[in-house]
Amino acid sequence: MANRLTINYEKKPCYDIVFASDYSGLLEELQDFNINERRVAIIADSNTASLYGEEIKSLLDGNCKKVILHSFPAGEENKTLDTVKNIYKTLIEEKYDRKDLLLALGGGVVGDITGYAAATYLRGVDFIQLPTTLLAQVDSSIGGKTGVDFDGYKNMVGAFYMPKLVYMNIGALKTLDERQFFSGFAEVMKHGLIKDASFYEWLLENMYEIQDRDPDILEEMVMQSCNIKKLVVEKDPKELGDRALLNFGHTIGHAIEKAKNFEMLHGECVALGAVAAAFISWKHNWLSMDEYYEIRDMFVPFNLPISIDDINPEEIVSLTKSDKKMTAGQIKFVLLKKIGKAVIDMNVTDEDILNAVNEIYFSEEDEKA
Ligand code: GLY
Repeated sequence: MANRLTINYEKKPCYDIVFASDYSGLLEELQDFNINERRVAIIADSNTASLYGEEIKSLLDGNCKKVILHSFPAGEENKTLDTVKNIYKTLIEEKYDRKDLLLALGGGVVGDITGYAAATYLRGVDFIQLPTTLLAQVDSSIGGKTGVDFDGYKNMVGAFYMPKLVYMNIGALKTLDERQFFSGFAEVMKHGLIKDASFYEWLLENMYEIQDRDPDILEEMVMQSCNIKKLVVEKDPKELGDRALLNFGHTIGHAIEKAKNFEMLHGECVALGAVAAAFISWKHNWLSMDEYYEIRDMFVPFNLPISIDDINPEEIVSLTKSDKKMTAGQIKFVLLKKIGKAVIDMNVTDEDILNAVNEIYFSEEDEKA
């Protein structure tokens, strides 16, 4: 029996997360959703369509009314309304109606886009998440955030819309390229740092097994990480309060992502943002100097950056203003009161942010020194 967690929404069971090592149990899970009476559209990107598209399609062939595979080119640059429009077109051409089902087969981009298409097509059709990347498994597939980027701004257009099921093939993590794998790990670290000091310690203790992608350790890591996210999103599903803690590292991270034209991976930028936020937490006398340096250096064995060149620190400060995580023009900055306990701080100044960005900025002068 695969392990599972149930996510509650408004205090009622809403959907399960199934932790599996392959797709062999997927069909059985889907029987709970009467798929033999429904059409299913698998939405994938060019990578996941070729890796798993045919496997999932043949699993469903003959077990549902109809199954199609719709794919779009991989990459954050395609997380746009145009990609959603092409999904609508396919669904209309193939005569999908409100009783039919979308499967999001891929990483964060596929999950967010498919969820948004599901939330809006015919005012809402059911969808299921099949996250294939570490980032999607530990973060974006859970909690019902869906949407697209708009005019270069991350996740500017979207909806909260819950999946009916999240089926995680942990075995898919084996085939992820190194950069993608470690990018997702930044969100795992984030969960430990903001909510669970013992999980953070466990990550340190299991560093080599995680690097080697030991299947049992990965399953444990993904489950623990999902459990932290579960507790946060159940308490505050619409991000009116504590869910914003999940944005630790994201204010400066998103600004770097945009300044770098989305050439760096999301988790790489989150790692840099987390180091900067930990620096501010130290300067606020919440973290000790040793804790700050431990957090910073902890990203290194996981191939995540802790410094960056080729940015303009002032530009990063100004880009933090266009992040949507603001209330009445004031940035809701997430800091660490201690390891395992994050807080929202409305009083982080531009100077604090600039100092933190300068801390992670590795300039040409530093190189010569
Ligand atoms: N990825 C942050 C959240 O789901 O709220």
